[in-house]
Amino acid sequence: MSQKISLTRYLVEQQRMEGHIPSQLRLLLEVVARACKSISQAVNKGALGGENSIMGTAGSENVQGEVQKKLDIIANEVLIEANEWGGHLAAMASEEMDSIYVVPNRYPQGEYLLLFDPLDGSSNIDINVSIGTIFSVLKMPEDDRGVDEGDFLQAGNKQVAAGYCIYGPQTTLVLTVGDGVAMFTLDREQGSFVLIEENVTIPEDTQEFAINMSNMRHWDEPVKRYIDECLAGKDGPRGKDFNMRWVAAMVADVHRILCRGGIFMYPWDKREPEKAGKLRLMYEANPMSWLIEQAGGMATNGKQRILDIQPGKLHERVSVILGSKNEVERVTSYHAKL
Ligand code: AHG
Ligand code: MN
Ligand code: MN
Repeated sequence: MSQKISLTRYLVEQQRMEGHIPSQLRLLLEVVARACKSISQAVNKGALGGENSIMGTAGSENVQGEVQKKLDIIANEVLIEANEWGGHLAAMASEEMDSIYVVPNRYPQGEYLLLFDPLDGSSNIDINVSIGTIFSVLKMPEDDRGVDEGDFLQAGNKQVAAGYCIYGPQTTLVLTVGDGVAMFTLDREQGSFVLIEENVTIPEDTQEFAINMSNMRHWDEPVKRYIDECLAGKDGPRGKDFNMRWVAAMVADVHRILCRGGIFMYPWDKREPEKAGKLRLMYEANPMSWLIEQAGGMATNGKQRILDIQPGKLHERVSVILGSKNEVERVTSYHAKL
């Protein structure tokens, strides 16, 4: 790319030429990107942050009963503080907050709703492995008189923007506003995100899968069948060898799939059968599923398209199978044969 295109310019052009994004949504995305930049700075400092070090646990639990790391809380605060005053949002929801955060009265209220997983891959923070922030943007329902949790309960196919920022060897923001997937890497000297890839496309076939194999004994039959067939390699029914990767941060596993294809699964399993899965529908599965679909891939819970699931509650969990189209279709078809 001869001329560098910043995220700001990309968004302005999307607004001007494609008519995809109204100015309030453009502002929102700029603010989210700014917050991610600031989280990236803190991540980079690591233990050198002194009193503000991001390493270690915070000594508290979130609504899902998970131990919160310091960075989970710091990232959550950064995103709230950055977004509450701009006038573009009505409310926010986060993995780290029990209920929704309504924009305080002292600020104007906008028409958008922002959901986020402020810090994905928490178990990677202290070991210097890739982590990220995932976000999803919805619109307030028309003629709504005051925001409440019910306004957030919209299917993923209603998202108006979705993306993530990965804090890895590079900090890269990946975004869709419904017109394909674009990637922007943070240029630390310039302080801005620069377009590195437009129209990201996932190959339909793959020989790479991502699943936490230690849960194998708890899996359901269709998932077990699929992985068994992959593991059988060249001599098995698939007639080819497969490779395995598991970063333990959905952001990093999805990023790899957007870069070179693959399939990612965090399926329902028998450990806690009453839970639909581990990952959260509204701020993990939905934004990632939309990105994957926008790049030509597919995302299901084994039975239906994730983006068509009507959420019943904010922190709802879901079984996730996403990535290269032909592989996701195959696992989904195994579920149908049950
Ligand atoms: P979070 O850190 O936001 O709680 O999410 C972690 C999720 C997801 O990113 C990852 O794919 C998965 O948990 C890892 O789970 P295991 O620890 O079972 O490997
Ligand atoms: Mn997460
Ligand atoms: Mn998280």
